[in-house]
Amino acid sequence: MPVKVLMVCLGNICRSPLAEGILQAKLPENICIVDSAGTGDWHVGSPPDKRSVATARKFGVDISQQRCRQISKSDFENFDYIYVMDNSNYKNVLAIAPNEKAKQKVKVILNELYPNQNLEVPDPYYGSLQDFEEVYTLLNEVCEVIATKINS
Ligand code: 4NP
Repeated sequence: MPVKVLMVCLGNICRSPLAEGILQAKLPENICIVDSAGTGDWHVGSPPDKRSVATARKFGVDISQQRCRQISKSDFENFDYIYVMDNSNYKNVLAIAPNEKAKQKVKVILNELYPNQNLEVPDPYYGSLQDFEEVYTLLNEVCEVIATKINS
């Protein structure tokens, strides 16, 4: 059975779609299933932000077919790991976790790279294309660590 990973941010249009596409590109589906969702519902049904699509494309990853959805309680059953981008996401996801086992699935993603520091993937929504590239680079680094863990 493949490991199932859910990437979560606020809008599910900037950071978590990149994390989904990056980890997907590192692992085949028989090893790992990756999806993403937002804590908010403003963009449900929309493709990722154009700047995320363009940045991913620049590095050879196609995220254009993704569609935004909001996280739901069933995600806590369907996924093994739920990685959040920042501490606000962490608080919001824990608030809807149905039980203790569900809470334990929720991890601050950068803790895989910098353990116990609760560092955040900055929200590039109001930023520049360079901010999107920096987010991509950071997510690529941490997804490499996650992929190695899953493979070992
Ligand atoms: P994301 O960025 O959480 O990385 O997808 C955001 C996108 C949209 C909004 C906030 C953050 N928004 O407020 O619409």
